[in-house]
Amino acid sequence: MGSALVPDRGMVGVLDLSSVEDRVASLLLEMTIEEKIGQLQQVAASAEHVPEDLKQAIRDGRIGSVINLVDAQTANDLQWLASTQSRHGIPLLVGRDVVHGFKTVFPIPLGQAATWNPSLVTKAARVAALEAAATGVNWTFAPMIDIGRDPRWGRVAEGFGEDPYLTGVLGAAMVRGFQGDDLAAEGHIAACAKHFAGYGASESGRDYNTTNIPENELRNVHLVPFKAAVDAGVATIMTSFSEIDGVPASASEFLLKRVLREEWQFDGMVVSDWDSIRQLAVHGFTANDRDSAYEAASAGVDMEMSSTTYAEHLAHLVHDGVIAIERIDTLVANVLRLKLRLGLFESPYTDSSRFPAPLNAEHLQLARDVAVESVVLLKNDNRTLPLSREAVRAIAVVGPLADDKHDQLGTWIFDGDHGPSVTVLHAITDLVGEHVEITYARGVPTTRSRDESLIAEAVEAAQRSDVVVLVAGEESILSGEAHCRSDIGLPGAQPALLAALAKTGKPVIMVIMAGRALALQSVLHDATAVLYAWHPGVMGGAAIADLLFGVGSPSGKLPTSLPRTVGQIPIYYGHKHTGKPATDETVIHMDDIEARAPQLSIGNTSFHLDVHPTPLFPFGFGLSYSSMEYANISVNHHELARDGVIELSADITNTGTRPATEVAQLYIRDVVANVTRPVRELKAFEKLTVAPGERRTVRFTVTANDLAFYGRDMRRRVESGWFHAWIGGDSTTQLRTEFLLV
Ligand code: NOJ
Repeated sequence: MGSALVPDRGMVGVLDLSSVEDRVASLLLEMTIEEKIGQLQQVAASAEHVPEDLKQAIRDGRIGSVINLVDAQTANDLQWLASTQSRHGIPLLVGRDVVHGFKTVFPIPLGQAATWNPSLVTKAARVAALEAAATGVNWTFAPMIDIGRDPRWGRVAEGFGEDPYLTGVLGAAMVRGFQGDDLAAEGHIAACAKHFAGYGASESGRDYNTTNIPENELRNVHLVPFKAAVDAGVATIMTSFSEIDGVPASASEFLLKRVLREEWQFDGMVVSDWDSIRQLAVHGFTANDRDSAYEAASAGVDMEMSSTTYAEHLAHLVHDGVIAIERIDTLVANVLRLKLRLGLFESPYTDSSRFPAPLNAEHLQLARDVAVESVVLLKNDNRTLPLSREAVRAIAVVGPLADDKHDQLGTWIFDGDHGPSVTVLHAITDLVGEHVEITYARGVPTTRSRDESLIAEAVEAAQRSDVVVLVAGEESILSGEAHCRSDIGLPGAQPALLAALAKTGKPVIMVIMAGRALALQSVLHDATAVLYAWHPGVMGGAAIADLLFGVGSPSGKLPTSLPRTVGQIPIYYGHKHTGKPATDETVIHMDDIEARAPQLSIGNTSFHLDVHPTPLFPFGFGLSYSSMEYANISVNHHELARDGVIELSADITNTGTRPATEVAQLYIRDVVANVTRPVRELKAFEKLTVAPGERRTVRFTVTANDLAFYGRDMRRRVESGWFHAWIGGDSTTQLRTEFLLV
């Protein structure tokens, strides 16, 4: 096929029936069982080499989708084969992990979550979709909306943090960005909510590990964002590698049939994870590939990624009467429906010239805007930040991540290129280099290196400067799939570097780049100010320099609690109260226990003997360069009817001297319920800018539906009773009111 065919966006498919379902039904009537099973197979492909047998398989209708092909010409060639040379002209799904940008790398999703700005998340996904679609990709494996409550797990980087509501809102926002209003429109690609379900609860935060999630917690926590994604129209869902209650997710009838199809009426497509159907046997759930194909197909996995158990065994299973052909038809229909919804039968090809250039100025500006809003100011002693361009004469820019174009990008950047990255060192030099003397010292060779030989040079640079900017944290490769850590402190010799810099007496501004929440209690005191920047993407350095010098004020808020120590994990704000909740009066530290003290259980509460029971920084927390005061929480009716609505409001005053953007957060607690409920749950938030001295009122509406939860019978219910409500700037706010649901 020549490129001359590309602009021809006319009718290529063989059918001209009016409705999608008619076209699906008509195709199913004409397809052989081999062709049907072919639609269920996804295989890897690459532009470098397209083997002849792959081409032939496409001609034969034995391939439904390719993964990891990101070349327009090759994608068009393969689409041409599928659309014109196969019997039914069924085009291909071209899938790729476009997780936080394509060429233009945005902050990692966990960083995007810290923006608490759904509209920015949508815009970033839109740019990613455009850049990816230009290469022929029509399907991304994002958003990842697994609840991440164990930061040892490397994949927390890919998600939106610990909270079901925030994850649901931002996951839906990302789906809208990829898919737009019309999946068939040029430049829109199918999204994939993953990993269904419970993957984030892997034991000990070790990837792929077993999960233990009671059904009630599954429904009230882990499934919440998936329901939000389904409601937002997500086109596809990916099963998880993990097992749940003894059943691997890729064979879970409970998840795929009962919850997804029956309860939620999902009519999109379900794809396995890479090889996860074959792995059913590795789990010890099936004896062989044939049984694996049977279990996955029976449970409702429509497409098999990479492994080939369907291709090898489904036809035999049908011929042997083990699986009904209707089951296969259901799976195939889900695949065909997606292809029709994507408009692939009409327009299987991409035409790169119709798309904006990747990494163009507008895309980079958006990456910068998202990065600015993703940074969380955790500490700012003596109002060290923002730095004054006039007062500062010399800066030491130190650290293994201060000038590393690659490691600021984060995990899952298959198509990103670190060439265009703007590092902190470069951005500071650009911004103030003319007036300020800048000395750079790496300090340690890498974030995890234990080599302390470069520290002396960094200390010297600090001594010659007015202020130190230390960019520390974790390299990209220390988070992401299969990159989990058991100790999530600042790795390597970085604590020694920080301590040595602090000893100089110069203010040390620590910028943390990381793919997870790190446990920083033991080093925090050595930093005068801390900006938590996650892996901020291609424009990360520019965003950080802007914030350091007050071009903007930090507005990010933590989407995950920062633990003090690893031993506290899992630690999250929406925990249960327990029968013996910790109080300030009951918490004791082991240093205060006398030797041979008698054991007493009466009066004891739930805490560790060696660490304060709170996190180092709570969910929702983030400072700005101004100060916000919340007051006058009120509710317009103290009684909420089942079909009614109440409005909760509070005043926010900017009591500082700079404009600042604040995320006002509404939390509620269901005081008594059929099953115990979390001590607090985020129910709404609003990001608003407040001028110095200005007072604004933030208003949230709540309906009975917002208060529903799954009870002991695993049904969604709304229960009468008292609710506490708090409004404030983080999950520990004490500004409270209450109302009665009648
Ligand atoms: C495995 C990962 O778990 C999944 O998230 C990803 O989409 C697939 N591989 C495809 O790369």
